[in-house]
Amino acid sequence: MDWVALFFPLTVLLSRWIVVPAAEETYWTYTGLVGQSQWSTYFPECSGYSQSPIDVVTSQTKHDPTLSPLTPLGYSQHGNQPFSLYNNGHTVVIELPDWMGLRGLPWLYTAAQMHLHWGSGGPGHGGSEHTIDGESTDAELHLVHYNSDLYPNISTAMTKENGLAVLGILIETGPENNQAFDNILNYLGRVRHADQKVFIPAFNIEALLPGNMWRYYRYKGSLTTPPCDQTVLWTLFQERISISQAQLLKLETSLYSSREEEPDKMLLQDNYRSTLPPNNRVVLTSFSEGSLKDLSSGEVTAIVVGVMCGCVGLAVIIRFIVKTIRSTSSWDVLPSIRPTPMPRANMSEKQNEQKQDVALSLTSGAGGPKEEPLSSLKAEP
Ligand SMILES: *[C@@H]1O[C@H](CO)[C@@H](O)[C@H](O)[C@H]1NC(C)=O
Repeated sequence: MDWVALFFPLTVLLSRWIVVPAAEETYWTYTGLVGQSQWSTYFPECSGYSQSPIDVVTSQTKHDPTLSPLTPLGYSQHGNQPFSLYNNGHTVVIELPDWMGLRGLPWLYTAAQMHLHWGSGGPGHGGSEHTIDGESTDAELHLVHYNSDLYPNISTAMTKENGLAVLGILIETGPENNQAFDNILNYLGRVRHADQKVFIPAFNIEALLPGNMWRYYRYKGSLTTPPCDQTVLWTLFQERISISQAQLLKLETSLYSSREEEPDKMLLQDNYRSTLPPNNRVVLTSFSEGSLKDLSSGEVTAIVVGVMCGCVGLAVIIRFIVKTIRSTSSWDVLPSIRPTPMPRANMSEKQNEQKQDVALSLTSGAGGPKEEPLSSLKAEP
């Protein structure tokens, strides 16, 4: 009895010591011996048929009119509790408060965390995970949500059907500094090494998102890192966001994938997975090209102004034609039959004459057989 009492806890202790690190800390990288081509050796799902990221071939996408606009919930109510910023050796992660979520999907999804993927070598050298028609951008932001209608927490949801919803935002480099991004980038120096974590001031997450949230690509895929669970409902926004070249440089050169105590410092760069085949998946779009409701406000303004100008122009032309016909009919009739005085009694003689003159000069300009009756008209009192 004493023996069992002693042996049992020892077994538990031993099995924990052996099993836990093996299950949770399997080492992987983006390139090299445990690089992405080897992931499936250790994480079988990584060779599945519905992996992410993918290349979105726009000519092969399909408009799905049932896809409604996504509404971020509580994204701008960050509160005053600080956010945690964490270098996990693969990316920089910001944990999101659980009052943030997403509406517009078949279930309510609760925010869990966001993180970034980037490249090296500055603008134009890749870094995004998803590509559009074969083209990558300089970085990509992922906002990870879990299905809180069906599952109690993200670790359970991650492995279950419809468990996760991730928003993907393509980041490109432009002339302007993106102030919202400084809320992250300014603190990267404090989590330079893997496993470092700091608290940063809370900020408005909505400011990171593109303005147009109703134009997006939708498909079912996976986590883009091991263990590559195929449980993600992907939303990739068509509109990109822009950061400055200095901001991109900061993102690309601030972090290490190595721990502080490790002698060889390894820059955390090119932490993006190559695209994988869509296989039988069709990427759906929430928009159709050329549909009026999908146009930007600038395009709508241009169309409205154009249509208004067209209408005014048409009105002027119609008015002119009517006038011409009216005045023409008054003199086109044989002068002998024509009733005098003029049919429109309220019109003064002078006004009438002016009208006839206009009609006259125009018709005579066109030349032809109408000149004769005109001259006879002119002779009238
Ligand atoms: C998530 O929920 C499951 C099921 O209720 C539970 O067993 C697990 O401990 C939870 N995990 C965390 C990290 O809270």
